[in-house]
Amino acid sequence: MSERLGLHVRAPSGAYPVEIAGGAARRLATVIDGLGAPRRRFIVSNPTVWRLHAGTFEGLTSEEPILIPDGERFKQLATVGRIYDALIRAAADRATTIVAVGGGVVGDVAGFAAATYLRGVPVVQVPTTLLAQVDSAIGGKVGVNHAAGKNLIGAYHQPAAVVVDPELLSSLPRREFRAGLYEVVKYGVIASRPLFDQVGARLTQLFSRDAAVLVPVIAECCRIKGRVVEEDEREAGPRRALNFGHTLGHALEAVTKYRRFRHGEAVGYGMLAAANLSVARGAMPAGDRDALAALVAQMGPLPAVSDLSAQQVVEAIGRDKKVIAGHLHFVLSTGIGATTTVTDVTTDELIALTRGLGLRA
Ligand SMILES: NC(=O)c1ccc[n+]([C@@H]2O[C@H](COP(=O)([O-])OP(=O)(O)OC[C@H]3O[C@@H](n4cnc5c(N)ncnc54)[C@H](O)[C@@H]3O)[C@@H](O)[C@H]2O)c1
Ligand SMILES: [Zn+2]
Repeated sequence: MSERLGLHVRAPSGAYPVEIAGGAARRLATVIDGLGAPRRRFIVSNPTVWRLHAGTFEGLTSEEPILIPDGERFKQLATVGRIYDALIRAAADRATTIVAVGGGVVGDVAGFAAATYLRGVPVVQVPTTLLAQVDSAIGGKVGVNHAAGKNLIGAYHQPAAVVVDPELLSSLPRREFRAGLYEVVKYGVIASRPLFDQVGARLTQLFSRDAAVLVPVIAECCRIKGRVVEEDEREAGPRRALNFGHTLGHALEAVTKYRRFRHGEAVGYGMLAAANLSVARGAMPAGDRDALAALVAQMGPLPAVSDLSAQQVVEAIGRDKKVIAGHLHFVLSTGIGATTTVTDVTTDELIALTRGLGLRA
Protein backbone atom coordinates (compact mmCIF):
# COMPACT_ATOMS: atom_id res chain seq x y z
CA MET A 1 0.00 0.00 0.00
CA SER A 2 1.22 3.47 -0.86
CA GLU A 3 2.40 5.40 2.16
CA ARG A 4 3.49 8.50 0.33
CA LEU A 5 1.14 10.71 -1.58
CA GLY A 6 1.47 14.17 -3.00
CA LEU A 7 -0.89 16.64 -4.55
CA HIS A 8 -0.93 20.23 -5.67
CA VAL A 9 -3.36 22.94 -4.71
CA ARG A 10 -3.67 25.57 -7.41
CA ALA A 11 -5.47 28.38 -5.64
CA PRO A 12 -5.93 31.66 -7.54
CA SER A 13 -3.51 33.45 -5.20
CA GLY A 14 -0.86 30.73 -5.23
CA ALA A 15 -0.09 27.08 -6.01
CA TYR A 16 1.62 24.78 -3.57
CA PRO A 17 2.46 21.14 -2.94
CA VAL A 18 0.91 19.04 -0.21
CA GLU A 19 3.08 16.06 0.71
CA ILE A 20 1.52 13.31 2.79
CA ALA A 21 3.78 10.55 4.04
CA GLY A 22 4.94 8.81 7.17
CA GLY A 23 8.28 10.45 8.05
CA ALA A 24 7.66 13.49 5.80
CA ALA A 25 8.46 15.93 8.62
CA ARG A 26 12.00 14.58 8.85
CA ARG A 27 12.51 15.47 5.20
CA LEU A 28 11.19 19.01 5.65
CA ALA A 29 14.51 20.69 4.82
CA THR A 30 14.55 18.98 1.43
CA VAL A 31 10.97 20.04 0.72
CA ILE A 32 11.69 23.68 1.61
CA ASP A 33 14.92 23.68 -0.41
CA GLY A 34 12.95 22.31 -3.37
CA LEU A 35 10.49 25.21 -3.17
CA GLY A 36 13.15 27.83 -3.44
CA ALA A 37 11.69 29.37 -0.27
CA PRO A 38 14.00 31.59 1.76
CA ARG A 39 16.56 29.58 3.71
CA ARG A 40 16.34 31.54 6.93
CA ARG A 41 13.69 29.56 8.74
CA PHE A 42 11.80 30.29 11.94
CA ILE A 43 9.76 27.54 13.51
CA VAL A 44 6.60 28.62 15.33
CA SER A 45 5.22 25.95 17.64
CA ASN A 46 3.92 25.52 21.18
CA PRO A 47 5.60 23.93 24.22
CA THR A 48 3.36 20.82 24.15
CA VAL A 49 4.18 19.95 20.56
CA TRP A 50 7.79 21.04 20.79
CA ARG A 51 8.48 18.92 23.87
CA LEU A 52 7.22 15.86 21.99
CA HIS A 53 8.58 16.47 18.52
CA ALA A 54 11.57 18.85 18.55
CA GLY A 55 13.83 15.95 17.57
CA THR A 56 12.00 15.49 14.28
CA PHE A 57 13.01 18.99 13.18
CA GLU A 58 16.65 18.85 14.22
CA GLY A 59 18.90 20.48 11.65
CA LEU A 60 16.08 22.39 9.95
CA THR A 61 17.22 25.74 11.28
CA SER A 62 19.73 27.24 13.65
CA GLU A 63 17.20 29.86 14.80
CA GLU A 64 15.57 29.51 18.20
CA PRO A 65 12.02 28.18 17.85
CA ILE A 66 9.29 30.74 18.61
CA LEU A 67 7.00 29.02 21.10
CA ILE A 68 3.54 30.43 21.70
CA PRO A 69 1.37 29.35 24.64
CA ASP A 70 -0.85 26.33 24.06
CA GLY A 71 -4.59 26.84 23.81
CA GLU A 72 -7.41 28.39 21.84
CA ARG A 73 -7.52 31.32 24.30
CA PHE A 74 -4.07 32.36 23.11
CA LYS A 75 -5.28 32.54 19.53
CA GLN A 76 -5.35 36.31 19.78
CA LEU A 77 -3.54 39.38 18.50
CA ALA A 78 -1.27 39.61 21.55
CA THR A 79 0.21 36.24 20.58
CA VAL A 80 0.80 37.40 17.02
CA GLY A 81 2.58 40.38 18.59
CA ARG A 82 4.93 38.02 20.40
CA ILE A 83 5.84 36.39 17.10
CA TYR A 84 6.54 39.80 15.51
CA ASP A 85 8.71 40.69 18.53
CA ALA A 86 10.77 37.53 18.15
CA LEU A 87 11.20 38.05 14.40
CA ILE A 88 12.22 41.67 14.83
CA ARG A 89 14.66 40.77 17.64
CA ALA A 90 16.27 38.27 15.28
CA ALA A 91 16.36 40.91 12.50
CA ALA A 92 14.31 38.66 10.22
CA ASP A 93 13.99 40.29 6.81
CA ARG A 94 11.81 39.36 3.83
CA ALA A 95 14.08 36.42 3.06
CA THR A 96 12.45 34.49 5.88
CA THR A 97 10.28 31.38 5.88
CA ILE A 98 7.97 30.70 8.81
CA VAL A 99 7.45 27.02 9.58
CA ALA A 100 4.27 26.40 11.59
CA VAL A 101 4.52 23.16 13.59
CA GLY A 102 1.35 22.44 15.52
CA GLY A 103 -2.40 22.11 15.47
CA GLY A 104 -4.91 24.51 13.99
CA VAL A 105 -4.20 27.18 16.58
CA VAL A 106 -0.48 27.35 15.81
CA GLY A 107 -1.19 27.16 12.07
CA ASP A 108 -3.73 29.99 12.15
CA VAL A 109 -1.65 32.26 14.40
CA ALA A 110 1.70 31.62 12.70
CA GLY A 111 0.01 31.89 9.30
CA PHE A 112 -1.45 35.27 10.24
CA ALA A 113 1.94 36.47 11.48
CA ALA A 114 3.45 35.33 8.17
CA ALA A 115 0.67 37.04 6.19
CA THR A 116 1.37 40.36 7.85
CA TYR A 117 5.05 40.46 8.86
CA LEU A 118 6.76 42.80 6.38
CA ARG A 119 3.49 42.58 4.38
CA GLY A 120 3.91 38.86 3.96
CA VAL A 121 6.58 36.17 4.13
CA PRO A 122 6.13 32.51 3.11
CA VAL A 123 4.72 30.00 5.58
CA VAL A 124 5.15 26.24 5.44
CA GLN A 125 2.43 24.42 7.35
CA VAL A 126 3.41 21.29 9.26
CA PRO A 127 0.14 20.24 10.93
CA THR A 128 0.39 17.99 13.97
CA THR A 129 -3.28 17.29 14.79
CA LEU A 130 -5.60 15.27 12.58
CA LEU A 131 -7.90 18.29 12.29
CA ALA A 132 -5.05 20.46 11.06
CA GLN A 133 -3.79 17.74 8.68
CA VAL A 134 -7.15 17.31 6.95
CA ASP A 135 -8.50 20.82 7.25
CA SER A 136 -6.89 23.94 8.66
CA ALA A 137 -3.40 23.60 7.12
CA ILE A 138 -4.83 23.76 3.60
CA GLY A 139 -6.73 26.67 2.14
CA GLY A 140 -4.89 29.75 3.33
CA LYS A 141 -7.37 30.98 5.95
CA VAL A 142 -5.30 32.39 8.79
CA GLY A 143 -6.25 34.54 11.72
CA VAL A 144 -7.11 34.98 15.36
CA ASN A 145 -10.11 35.37 17.62
CA HIS A 146 -11.48 38.59 19.07
CA ALA A 147 -13.10 38.84 22.50
CA ALA A 148 -16.38 39.28 20.58
CA GLY A 149 -16.08 36.11 18.53
CA LYS A 150 -14.01 33.41 16.86
CA ASN A 151 -11.85 34.07 13.81
CA LEU A 152 -13.01 37.67 13.45
CA ILE A 153 -9.54 38.94 12.51
CA GLY A 154 -7.76 37.27 9.63
CA ALA A 155 -6.43 37.07 6.12
CA TYR A 156 -6.02 34.70 3.21
CA HIS A 157 -2.40 33.62 2.93
CA GLN A 158 -1.84 30.39 1.05
CA PRO A 159 1.09 28.35 2.38
CA ALA A 160 4.23 27.78 0.33
CA ALA A 161 3.87 24.08 1.11
CA VAL A 162 2.01 21.74 3.44
CA VAL A 163 3.88 18.77 4.85
CA VAL A 164 1.64 16.17 6.46
CA ASP A 165 3.31 13.48 8.51
CA PRO A 166 0.87 11.07 10.17
CA GLU A 167 3.68 9.81 12.43
CA LEU A 168 3.34 13.11 14.30
CA LEU A 169 -0.15 11.97 15.33
CA SER A 170 1.16 9.09 17.45
CA SER A 171 1.32 11.39 20.49
CA LEU A 172 -2.08 13.01 19.95
CA PRO A 173 -4.59 12.33 22.77
CA ARG A 174 -7.33 9.98 21.63
CA ARG A 175 -10.03 12.61 22.07
CA GLU A 176 -8.18 15.07 19.82
CA PHE A 177 -7.68 12.37 17.24
CA ARG A 178 -11.34 11.43 17.32
CA ALA A 179 -12.34 15.10 17.00
CA GLY A 180 -10.38 15.27 13.76
CA LEU A 181 -11.97 12.07 12.55
CA TYR A 182 -15.43 13.69 12.55
CA GLU A 183 -14.10 16.13 9.95
CA VAL A 184 -12.84 13.16 7.93
CA VAL A 185 -16.35 11.70 8.05
CA LYS A 186 -17.65 15.10 6.92
CA TYR A 187 -15.46 14.96 3.80
CA GLY A 188 -16.88 11.54 3.07
CA VAL A 189 -20.44 12.78 3.41
CA ILE A 190 -19.92 15.89 1.27
CA ALA A 191 -17.73 14.46 -1.46
CA SER A 192 -16.67 10.81 -1.30
CA ARG A 193 -18.61 7.69 -0.50
CA PRO A 194 -15.43 5.54 -0.80
CA LEU A 195 -13.80 7.69 1.90
CA PHE A 196 -16.87 7.35 4.11
CA ASP A 197 -16.89 3.57 3.65
CA GLN A 198 -13.17 3.32 4.30
CA VAL A 199 -13.43 5.12 7.64
CA GLY A 200 -16.16 2.74 8.76
CA ALA A 201 -14.25 -0.32 7.62
CA ARG A 202 -10.89 0.77 9.08
CA LEU A 203 -11.87 2.51 12.29
CA THR A 204 -9.67 0.33 14.52
CA GLN A 205 -6.57 0.79 12.36
CA LEU A 206 -7.24 4.51 12.14
CA PHE A 207 -7.51 4.81 15.92
CA SER A 208 -4.26 2.88 16.29
CA ARG A 209 -2.68 5.55 14.00
CA ASP A 210 -1.56 2.99 11.43
CA ALA A 211 0.26 5.20 8.91
CA ALA A 212 -0.49 2.88 5.99
CA VAL A 213 -4.23 3.37 6.63
CA LEU A 214 -3.95 7.04 7.58
CA VAL A 215 -2.01 8.26 4.55
CA PRO A 216 -4.66 7.50 1.89
CA VAL A 217 -7.48 8.70 4.16
CA ILE A 218 -5.75 12.01 4.95
CA ALA A 219 -4.73 12.41 1.31
CA GLU A 220 -8.34 12.03 0.16
CA CYS A 221 -9.43 14.75 2.62
CA CYS A 222 -6.63 17.06 1.46
CA ARG A 223 -7.60 16.42 -2.14
CA ILE A 224 -11.23 17.33 -1.45
CA LYS A 225 -10.33 20.44 0.54
CA GLY A 226 -7.77 21.45 -2.09
CA ARG A 227 -10.27 21.09 -4.91
CA VAL A 228 -12.86 23.19 -3.10
CA VAL A 229 -10.27 25.90 -2.36
CA GLU A 230 -9.19 25.96 -6.01
CA GLU A 231 -12.77 26.52 -7.07
CA ASP A 232 -13.69 29.01 -4.42
CA GLU A 233 -10.74 30.43 -2.51
CA ARG A 234 -12.76 33.04 -0.65
CA GLU A 235 -15.89 31.08 0.17
CA ALA A 236 -18.32 32.71 -2.22
CA GLY A 237 -20.16 29.48 -3.00
CA PRO A 238 -18.83 25.90 -3.30
CA ARG A 239 -16.52 26.24 -0.30
CA ARG A 240 -19.67 26.41 1.80
CA ALA A 241 -20.16 22.64 1.37
CA LEU A 242 -17.28 22.31 3.85
CA ASN A 243 -19.68 23.74 6.42
CA PHE A 244 -21.80 20.59 6.42
CA GLY A 245 -22.64 19.92 10.06
CA HIS A 246 -21.15 23.24 11.11
CA THR A 247 -24.31 25.36 11.44
CA LEU A 248 -25.49 23.49 14.47
CA GLY A 249 -21.95 22.52 15.45
CA HIS A 250 -20.82 26.12 15.84
CA ALA A 251 -23.98 26.97 17.78
CA LEU A 252 -23.39 24.09 20.21
CA GLU A 253 -19.82 25.30 20.73
CA ALA A 254 -20.98 28.87 21.27
CA VAL A 255 -23.72 28.13 23.83
CA THR A 256 -21.26 26.02 25.84
CA LYS A 257 -18.64 28.81 25.61
CA TYR A 258 -16.24 26.57 23.66
CA ARG A 259 -15.61 24.50 26.79
CA ARG A 260 -17.66 21.33 26.43
CA PHE A 261 -16.97 20.13 22.91
CA ARG A 262 -13.95 19.70 20.80
CA HIS A 263 -14.93 21.36 17.52
CA GLY A 264 -15.19 18.01 15.73
CA GLU A 265 -17.49 16.61 18.40
CA ALA A 266 -19.91 19.48 17.91
CA VAL A 267 -19.69 18.85 14.16
CA GLY A 268 -20.57 15.20 14.90
CA TYR A 269 -23.89 16.38 16.33
CA GLY A 270 -24.28 18.94 13.58
CA MET A 271 -23.88 16.29 10.88
CA LEU A 272 -26.57 14.13 12.51
CA ALA A 273 -28.95 17.09 12.54
CA ALA A 274 -28.12 18.10 8.96
CA ALA A 275 -28.69 14.51 7.83
CA ASN A 276 -32.04 14.41 9.63
CA LEU A 277 -33.13 17.60 7.90
CA SER A 278 -31.87 16.25 4.57
CA VAL A 279 -34.05 13.16 5.00
CA ALA A 280 -37.03 15.21 6.19
CA ARG A 281 -36.73 17.37 3.09
CA GLY A 282 -36.57 14.31 0.85
CA ALA A 283 -33.03 15.15 -0.26
CA MET A 284 -31.21 12.19 1.33
CA PRO A 285 -32.12 8.50 1.40
CA ALA A 286 -32.92 7.46 4.98
CA GLY A 287 -30.45 4.57 4.65
CA ASP A 288 -27.58 7.02 4.14
CA ARG A 289 -28.60 8.98 7.22
CA ASP A 290 -28.72 5.73 9.19
CA ALA A 291 -25.22 4.82 7.94
CA LEU A 292 -23.91 8.19 9.13
CA ALA A 293 -25.62 7.82 12.51
CA ALA A 294 -24.17 4.30 12.88
CA LEU A 295 -20.65 5.50 12.06
CA VAL A 296 -20.85 8.44 14.48
CA ALA A 297 -22.10 6.05 17.19
CA GLN A 298 -19.31 3.58 16.38
CA MET A 299 -16.70 6.32 16.82
CA GLY A 300 -17.57 6.70 20.49
CA PRO A 301 -19.70 8.75 22.85
CA LEU A 302 -20.26 12.46 22.26
CA PRO A 303 -20.52 14.92 25.17
CA ALA A 304 -24.03 15.24 26.64
CA VAL A 305 -26.49 17.81 25.27
CA SER A 306 -29.68 17.05 27.22
CA ASP A 307 -29.15 20.02 29.55
CA LEU A 308 -28.83 22.52 26.69
CA SER A 309 -31.76 24.63 25.51
CA ALA A 310 -32.84 24.14 21.91
CA GLN A 311 -34.12 27.71 21.90
CA GLN A 312 -30.72 29.09 22.88
CA VAL A 313 -28.94 26.98 20.29
CA VAL A 314 -31.26 28.19 17.55
CA GLU A 315 -30.69 31.80 18.63
CA ALA A 316 -26.95 31.16 18.38
CA ILE A 317 -27.45 29.87 14.82
CA GLY A 318 -29.01 33.23 13.97
CA ARG A 319 -25.82 35.01 15.05
CA ASP A 320 -23.58 32.77 12.93
CA LYS A 321 -21.40 34.03 10.07
CA LYS A 322 -23.24 31.66 7.73
CA VAL A 323 -26.25 33.96 7.96
CA ILE A 324 -25.62 36.17 4.95
CA ALA A 325 -27.85 39.20 4.40
CA GLY A 326 -30.42 37.66 6.72
CA HIS A 327 -30.37 34.26 5.00
CA LEU A 328 -29.07 31.14 6.66
CA HIS A 329 -27.19 28.99 4.16
CA PHE A 330 -27.75 25.44 5.33
CA VAL A 331 -25.80 22.59 3.73
CA LEU A 332 -27.84 19.42 3.18
CA SER A 333 -26.66 16.04 1.97
CA THR A 334 -28.29 14.52 -1.08
CA GLY A 335 -26.78 11.14 -0.19
CA ILE A 336 -23.33 10.14 1.07
CA GLY A 337 -20.88 11.92 -1.24
CA ALA A 338 -22.93 14.93 -2.38
CA THR A 339 -24.50 18.13 -1.03
CA THR A 340 -26.88 20.92 -1.81
CA THR A 341 -27.39 24.24 -0.04
CA VAL A 342 -30.78 25.64 0.94
CA THR A 343 -31.63 29.08 2.30
CA ASP A 344 -35.22 28.52 3.43
CA VAL A 345 -34.78 26.57 6.67
CA THR A 346 -37.29 27.89 9.19
CA THR A 347 -36.84 28.51 12.89
CA ASP A 348 -39.41 25.80 13.61
CA GLU A 349 -37.41 23.30 11.58
CA LEU A 350 -34.25 24.27 13.45
CA ILE A 351 -35.98 23.85 16.80
CA ALA A 352 -37.30 20.42 15.77
CA LEU A 353 -33.85 19.36 14.55
CA THR A 354 -32.15 20.48 17.70
CA ARG A 355 -34.78 18.82 19.88
CA GLY A 356 -34.21 15.69 17.79
CA LEU A 357 -30.63 15.57 19.09
CA GLY A 358 -31.99 15.35 22.64
CA LEU A 359 -31.82 18.99 23.70
CA ARG A 360 -34.45 20.36 26.06
CA ALA A 361 -37.02 22.92 24.95
N1 LIG B 1 -7.73 27.93 8.94
C1 LIG B 1 -8.71 27.08 8.73
O1 LIG B 1 -9.16 26.88 7.60
C2 LIG B 1 -9.25 26.32 9.90
C3 LIG B 1 -10.09 25.22 9.69
C4 LIG B 1 -10.53 24.51 10.79
C5 LIG B 1 -10.14 24.88 12.07
N2 LIG B 1 -9.33 25.96 12.24
C6 LIG B 1 -8.88 26.37 13.59
O2 LIG B 1 -8.10 25.34 14.15
C7 LIG B 1 -8.16 25.43 15.57
C8 LIG B 1 -8.33 24.05 16.15
O3 LIG B 1 -7.23 23.26 15.78
P1 LIG B 1 -6.88 21.91 16.55
O4 LIG B 1 -8.09 21.10 16.72
O5 LIG B 1 -5.70 21.34 15.86
O6 LIG B 1 -6.54 22.42 18.02
P2 LIG B 1 -5.16 22.87 18.73
O7 LIG B 1 -4.26 23.52 17.76
O8 LIG B 1 -5.55 23.62 19.93
O9 LIG B 1 -4.53 21.47 19.16
C9 LIG B 1 -5.21 20.67 20.10
C10 LIG B 1 -4.29 20.25 21.25
O10 LIG B 1 -3.42 19.22 20.78
C11 LIG B 1 -2.06 19.55 21.08
N3 LIG B 1 -1.25 18.90 20.06
C12 LIG B 1 -1.06 19.29 18.78
N4 LIG B 1 -0.36 18.38 18.11
C13 LIG B 1 -0.08 17.38 18.98
C14 LIG B 1 0.61 16.16 18.87
N5 LIG B 1 1.10 15.75 17.70
N6 LIG B 1 0.70 15.39 19.97
C15 LIG B 1 0.14 15.78 21.15
N7 LIG B 1 -0.53 16.91 21.31
C16 LIG B 1 -0.64 17.72 20.23
C17 LIG B 1 -2.05 21.04 21.06
O11 LIG B 1 -0.94 21.55 21.76
C18 LIG B 1 -3.38 21.35 21.75
O12 LIG B 1 -3.25 21.26 23.14
C19 LIG B 1 -9.29 26.39 15.89
O13 LIG B 1 -8.75 27.61 16.33
C20 LIG B 1 -10.00 26.56 14.56
O14 LIG B 1 -10.60 27.84 14.43
C21 LIG B 1 -8.88 26.67 11.19
ZN1 LIG C 1 -14.75 22.15 11.09
